[in-house]
Amino acid sequence: VARHGLGHLRPKLHFSPSAGFMNDPNGLLHDGERYHLYYQFAPGPLAVHGHICWGHALAEDLYHWHDAPTAIRETADGQAFSGCALIDHRNDSGLFAGPGPQNIVAIYTRHRDGRQNQWLAISQDGGLDFEEPAGINPVLDIGSDSFRDPKVFFHAPSGRWIMVVALARAHRIGFYGSGDLLHWQALSEFGPEGMLGIDYECPNLVELDIEGGGRRWVLIISINPGAPQGGSGSQYFVGDFDGERFVPDPQGLRLLDAGKDHYAIQVVEGLPSDQATGIGWLGNWQYCQEVPSEGWRGVMTLPRGLGLRRDWMGGLSLVQHVRGLEPLRVPIARPRIDSSLMPDQPLTDLDLPVDAAVELLLRFHLESLPTAPPGRGGRLVLCFGNAQGERLEIGYDAASHQLWTDRGELRGFSHPFFSQRSAIALGPDRREVRLQLIIDGCSLEMLAQDGEYSMSSMIYPAAPLDRLAIYVEAGQAGFGQLELNRLQSTLTR
Ligand code: FRU
Repeated sequence: VARHGLGHLRPKLHFSPSAGFMNDPNGLLHDGERYHLYYQFAPGPLAVHGHICWGHALAEDLYHWHDAPTAIRETADGQAFSGCALIDHRNDSGLFAGPGPQNIVAIYTRHRDGRQNQWLAISQDGGLDFEEPAGINPVLDIGSDSFRDPKVFFHAPSGRWIMVVALARAHRIGFYGSGDLLHWQALSEFGPEGMLGIDYECPNLVELDIEGGGRRWVLIISINPGAPQGGSGSQYFVGDFDGERFVPDPQGLRLLDAGKDHYAIQVVEGLPSDQATGIGWLGNWQYCQEVPSEGWRGVMTLPRGLGLRRDWMGGLSLVQHVRGLEPLRVPIARPRIDSSLMPDQPLTDLDLPVDAAVELLLRFHLESLPTAPPGRGGRLVLCFGNAQGERLEIGYDAASHQLWTDRGELRGFSHPFFSQRSAIALGPDRREVRLQLIIDGCSLEMLAQDGEYSMSSMIYPAAPLDRLAIYVEAGQAGFGQLELNRLQSTLTR
């Protein structure tokens, strides 16, 4: 068996740090020209969490990221934990020379000796270097050891800045208001509500467009550990926000992602609601510091457009679309499939490029044949494999309308918490299953039913996955779309 290094695990399209450990996205911001991606970063060679500062990358298109120097350092006042960035256009803070489109402010948690409070820094050079002005910090301190991850936005109807921040161990989200970003007044609290886990982390409050018209507020809360898939995961609530208080709709919580490895999503500041975009971290605290490493760990999700859709339960579901892929797509194959082939014979067998991210777009309907074993339906199985006998399986069962991902036949990583399978039930609209799958190095992102369901998983094959076989078992499938694309980027890591 040929031995492979770990080079094939490096994503070609997703952002990952050149070296060191990365977790949450921070300070996501469009400054009118460029996107800023700051991130929780531990530069050390062991690539584990600790001595956290803010790493930084810049891109014009959310894909071609260029590394920038560390933006916020660890100081005697503590590590620089998660937070946000914004543009203080009007100079509300009075910290800039005057109004300006490049008045970039970062607000984040300093963590030291069991104390967590919120700090503010400004950048006078377009977001590269930040300084903490003397005499203003911390801008918010409640004497807590469990108070972190501020996300701030301007709320036009009430004419002030709003901060959402986690009172992590109390399972509450604090809402604060400010006219100058320096003095913060407590407005209300939300929670404990929904799934609690051990800690609430990384809250986001965003107003999203509903397909077909209208807008609602969405409160996203990450929880860790204790998410239903195990470890880290995120939930959201749809509701109203009147500038002071968030009131959730009776529909209750929904999960943001059904996979094991999607966490701490942050909404990009500075975009109109019809371009609302979030980036999450493809990781889980259960094992993220132990995954195979060549001196780096951590991958971000692709940028996902965010909206709401009225769903089959009459509620509102978050919808996620991978943004801006069109210019990157290079078609590889558009096979025509004859689904009358016998079971156990792949309907198609395709070569996969190993030097680029791969996208599979699939629309199909599937009926079970009378030969389906009792209690289960026909199944469509996508099998990504290699000559070493590794398999990554993604499948759909027509009787239970569930999608699954099975990474159990990959041999590059095992860990007691690295669960092999994830599954999710699609709603009862069963006429057509629509899937988008993106495999890039050690990441797998899957969106189903035009973004209504999301399942994200890290994958660690010991050797590159270079074949795709598609099977139908005990069923009859009709394909509306089957497209395999390279996603071409010029990122070089
Ligand atoms: C979430 C989190 C945040 C914290 C940061 C520390 O993954 O635990 O709550 O600010 O990571 O790196």
